[in-house]
Amino acid sequence: MIFTLNRDKSRKLIEGLTEAAIIVRGASVVMSNAAARNLLGIGIEGVDVRQVLPHPALIERLVRGGLTGPEEIEAAGFGGSRRHWLARIAPLGDGAILVRLIDRSEARAAEQMRVDFVANASHELRTPLATLIGYTETLREHTGELDGETQGRFLAIVHEEARRMQRVVEDLISLSRIEAEKFTTPTEAVDLEQLIEVAVESAKRMADERGSALLCKIEPGLPPVAADRVQILQVLDNLITNALRYGEPGTPVEVSASLEDEMVHLRIVDQGEGIAPEHIQRLTERFYRVDTSRSRSLGGTGLGLSIVKHIVERHRGRLTIESEVGKGTTVHVLLPVAAGSLS
Ligand SMILES: Nc1ncnc2c1ncn2[C@@H]1O[C@H](COP(=O)(O)OP(=O)(O)OP(=O)(O)O)[C@@H](O)[C@H]1O
Ligand SMILES: [Mg+2]
Repeated sequence: MIFTLNRDKSRKLIEGLTEAAIIVRGASVVMSNAAARNLLGIGIEGVDVRQVLPHPALIERLVRGGLTGPEEIEAAGFGGSRRHWLARIAPLGDGAILVRLIDRSEARAAEQMRVDFVANASHELRTPLATLIGYTETLREHTGELDGETQGRFLAIVHEEARRMQRVVEDLISLSRIEAEKFTTPTEAVDLEQLIEVAVESAKRMADERGSALLCKIEPGLPPVAADRVQILQVLDNLITNALRYGEPGTPVEVSASLEDEMVHLRIVDQGEGIAPEHIQRLTERFYRVDTSRSRSLGGTGLGLSIVKHIVERHRGRLTIESEVGKGTTVHVLLPVAAGSLS
């Protein structure tokens, strides 16, 4: 049976596609679906395809002719500056070509993130490694010339840099473990109050050194959360350390927990310099720091908050950072209550 598509059927067909689709004949757009009009402009039908899809390789393929079967072309430059597309083009017969635009922006962004991550991780390790090599070379080549005190100072630097590399590697391992477990939601009923006590106890020395009081406000009768004990302790450790590290010395840090809509709401509040809005959404990126040299000098790897974010996601919880420059920062973590703990 010979089946020819008339205009009505063609229109129904491309309107049924979820991705942006146009039909091109000659060099004009002869038909488009709603997604394409949304993306490329309402009035694209009848317009020269060179104006609608300004991508040289794609245009060339559409206009040159000789298309015998479906082809795919990667394209960018339309529909938004950061968008990447896979254009699937297919001849429909009598010179008409169907163009479907598959959104590849997310895949491209994920790929870019992976590339950046490897570059950043290498850089984070290369810097202390260079220091380590420099100092050990000096120690080896000038053994007889350096006095005991200088040698001791150099060795202390070597040790500190090696420790920094160890921290980076440990944090990276921790991050990849958490990511590997991403799809197994923790179910153990964990007493958050007890974990807060443990975290506060281990941050006590740092708090004393900075003259900061650590205040706890736990709502009485708080139900247990569905959690991985070790990972929640990691969250608490990082957030309390951040609050102390970036808080103003001498000002208190407050940790509180209360029940809200079947979730336990944990807050860590500091009175520090705060974080400017443009940085806040980027803080959970790996190695992102507002002031890299400052964080480094305080022993930070810049991985803490990305670990926190991954842990909270694994727990089906929520992380939000609220901050006002000059006043301080509040980090909110919402964690689901353990099953069967609410009456
Ligand atoms: N409470 C806070 N107040 C102000 N700035 C903060 C606060 N918490 C985090 N930051 C900023 O966010 C950055 C990232 O924090 P994150 O915990 O990921 O890394 P870090 O503390 O530098 O290192 P790490 O946690 O790996 O030891 C910090 O370098 C700091 O600039
Ligand atoms: Mg940190």
